[in-house]
Order: sequence, then structure tokens, then C-alpha cells
Amino acid sequence: SNPSLLILPGDGIGPEVMAEVRKIITWFGDNRGLQFDVSEDLVGGAAYDAHGAPLSDETMAKAQEADAVLLGAVGGPKYDDLDFSLKPERGLLRLRKEMDLFSNLRPAQCFDALADFSSLKKDIVAGLDIMIVRELTSGVYFGEPRGIFEEGNERVGINTQRYTESEIERAARSAFELAMRRGKKVCSMEKANVMESGILWREVVTRVHADYPEVELSHMYADNGAMQLVRAPKQFDVILTDNLFGDILSDCAAMLTGSLGMLPSASLGAPMSNGRPKALYEPVHGSAPDIAGEGKANPIACILSFAMALRYSFDNGAEADRLEAAIEKVLADGARTGDLLGEEGVTPLSTSEMGDTIVAALNDS
Ligand code: NAI
Ligand code: MG
Repeated sequence: SNPSLLILPGDGIGPEVMAEVRKIITWFGDNRGLQFDVSEDLVGGAAYDAHGAPLSDETMAKAQEADAVLLGAVGGPKYDDLDFSLKPERGLLRLRKEMDLFSNLRPAQCFDALADFSSLKKDIVAGLDIMIVRELTSGVYFGEPRGIFEEGNERVGINTQRYTESEIERAARSAFELAMRRGKKVCSMEKANVMESGILWREVVTRVHADYPEVELSHMYADNGAMQLVRAPKQFDVILTDNLFGDILSDCAAMLTGSLGMLPSASLGAPMSNGRPKALYEPVHGSAPDIAGEGKANPIACILSFAMALRYSFDNGAEADRLEAAIEKVLADGARTGDLLGEEGVTPLSTSEMGDTIVAALNDS
């Protein structure tokens, strides 16, 4: 049977950008024989409006069964006053938690045509293609004890950085597996100079590396890593790091490449019985209420998220390359949504015109 793909468009610009992904999926079905069993469901505010909860148990069960989940975005001002447990974001958090998605993949890829959008000089970022692997389910955001406690005559706020060997090992394995499909280099970042969790992290990553002799492993203190990311980002291929450092380093890397409308992501979990990892693909951006409903959203982040699904869930790196090359081509030809405008005299494309332009480039590929 065909691999299954669960689509959760969500709120705001989510459904708008997802409509363009549907065109791309249809193209691959019609032209490259890639058939998926696609189903669509509600998440976030849209699910709350229909069911009174940001993710129904039925949708959660479908996500657990799917070979891959592709999500648009959740949230919006309409839901700001809802109870914490009913907020749209809780739907997304429930997916991540119950699917146990421990490995968060954030590529920072600079399309040459957009190098001017980088916060850095063009020659530092042109051709940049790195991947940050952030451990997503443990570390200081989850470790116990945590809380605000009385201590003498004042209060103390406590969070605990805590990593087990198995948590480090599975994150490391996912980074090495990824590196095998890319430039075969992993740089692991922690602070082993001042943190015991960092010492253990370095030790376990080094041990797992023995299973991947083809991959070159290096270690770097995370503060130096932040500096190197801005100084000379092209020295990296895959960066492996923990939840806290990954949060910061991936936001930093994102700005190397320019618009939020261009950034995809993947969150992977343990392999299912068919060998595919549990997987959720989503653009980094949110529901963009300021432009929702106007046909202005850039669909590329969501389309690139589908390219990641082709590569990491459906083992089809060649078709993922084809899709990324089509995007590279339309950008080189000057196609721009409003968020990518800088040059004068360029008329922005609408969301659906950008989708159609990419389909046309696929037809020429
Ligand atoms: P946002 O990412 O939605 O928007 C930030 C800015 O970037 C806005 O000016 C927006 O117009 C622009 N932008 C974002 N994506 C774009 C695209 N594809 N094309 C063109 N321009 C784009 O972040 P914001 O404004 O902080 O949050 C808005 C809502 O989204 C909130 O409810 C927030 O909670 C939610 N959110 C959801 C996320 C998710 O679903 N994963 C992630 C971040 C925020
Ligand atoms: Mg962050």
C-alpha cells in the first residue's frame, strides 16, 4: 500500500501554504509516480472551534499511525484568552510529546538568490547548507527538580539540566544517520568545561561515533559554536546539540538565511515497525495573523518541509533534490513573495502564484 501522509493545515496562513503543498504532492503523483494516502485533519484553533480541544484523540491516533505528519501552523489572536490547556499551541505540543519526537532537525540553507537577505555578508553565507540537530524532549526544560522555592528569607528559581545516556545516544544516532546522507561531518556542541551533563554528552557521542567510522566527529563548546556560526558557518555540516543550546543556536542559524518564510523543520522519533521514524514536518514560522487571508504568505517553508519528508520519511532524496532545485530555480529567476522583496520594481507573487511557479519549474525539470 502507499505510504500515508497526514496533513494538518491548522490556522491563519497554515491552510494557505498547505494548499500549495497539495499542488506539489499532486505533481509528484502525476509525474513521478509517488503516490501517498493523504488524509487531512484539524489542529490548533481550527480543532478547538470544531471539537472544543486543540487536538482530538482521533487526530492524535491518526498521527501515531501515519508514516509522516505535515503541519501548517497554529494559533491566532482569536484564541488568546483561552485557558492554557485549550490554547492552539497545546495541540502541537501534544503531538510532539505523545509521538516522542526527540530529534529536531533545523536546516539553515542559503539560496544564492537570497544571500542579500542574510544578516551576514553575502560571501559568508552564499551556498550555506547546514543542519542543526537539537535534542527536543529532555534537558533543562524538563529536568526535575524544578520550581520556585522558599530558601531562607528569599525565593530561588530552579531548573535542572538532566540527560540520561540513552537520551544522548538516540539524539547522537539520529545526527550520525543524517550526516551519512549529507556531508559526513558532525560537530557536537556542549559545555563539557563547566557542566557534568556536557561531560557525559561528549563521552556518549564519542562512543556512538564508533558505529559511524565514515563520519568525521568534532566537539566544540557551545559558546564558541555560537561564535563560529556567525564567523564561518560553512565549516559545519551537521551540528548536534542539546535542547537549550539547540534552541538558541538554531534561531541564530535561522537568521543566517533570511526570511522566516523560507525555513522548514522536522521532528523525528523512534523507528516504527516499518522502519520509518515517527515524524512531524512543519515550517518554522507561525500562523502570521497579520497577513492571513490575504494570499501574501510565502509557501516555500512548508514546501521545503515536504521536501524533508520526501528525504527523511520516504527515502527519496532524489525527488527531494528535484523539488529543492525547482525552488532554487524560481528564486534565481526572480520569483518573490512579499516577504522576500528588497529590490525595487519587483511585483510580489501571491501565495498561489508562487506555488504555480514552482510547479512550472518542476515541469521543466
Ligand atoms: P509568525 O511566524 O506567525 O509571524 C512573524 C512575522 O513573520 C509576521 O510578520 C508574519 O507576517 C511573517 N511571516 C511568517 N511566516 C511567513 C510566511 N510564510 N510568509 C510571509 N511572511 C511570514 O510569528 P508570530 O507573529 O510571533 O505568531 C503568530 C501566531 O503564530 C501566534 O499565535 C503564535 O503563537 C503562533 N505560532 C505558531 C507556531 C507554530 O505553529 N509552529 C510557531 C510560532 C508562532
Ligand atoms: Mg526558540
